[in-house]
Amino acid sequence: MIDKQIVTSYQVYDNLEEMEAEDVQLMHKAQEIREKAYAPYSQFMVGAAILLENGEVVTGSNQENAAYPSGLCAERNAIYQAGAQFPDQKILAIAITVKSQRKKVIIPAAPCGACRQAIAEYEFKQETPIKIMFMAEIGKVVKVNSLVDILPLAFNGSYL
Ligand code: THU
Repeated sequence: MIDKQIVTSYQVYDNLEEMEAEDVQLMHKAQEIREKAYAPYSQFMVGAAILLENGEVVTGSNQENAAYPSGLCAERNAIYQAGAQFPDQKILAIAITVKSQRKKVIIPAAPCGACRQAIAEYEFKQETPIKIMFMAEIGKVVKVNSLVDILPLAFNGSYL
């Protein structure tokens, strides 16, 4: 038996203004699109903005459905849109922000497992890391330099 360990690292910024201008700009786009979320059931609005290598920014918000599982998260809406519109462009970074209409959220909400798996697909495909930043409506911002930091041992196409 070999006892292995997984080491992950992430950065926590006290607020958005502490970040580099490019990151701030991307988060602002995520905040903008978050306001267009369709979340009548959860009242939880999420926005995601994706920066591509060619400088394009692709955004998405969560879209809910009366048949709950038919809805889709902001991150997957954005990343599938990026994949559909710009299939040959590498993804450099994703900014995610959440806001609840029920309560004040200040703790950065990390992307759900299914969205991490979706991001993993593109990181494996492009063979370069995708930077991920997430925050609530206000407050601290968490940043990881690669999807692998928040989804170690991910399943990928090499197993197929
Ligand atoms: N949601 C996202 O858009 N991204 C996540 O990573 C977690 C959850 C959405 C799905 C649903 O519309 C609402 O937030 C509450 O779960």
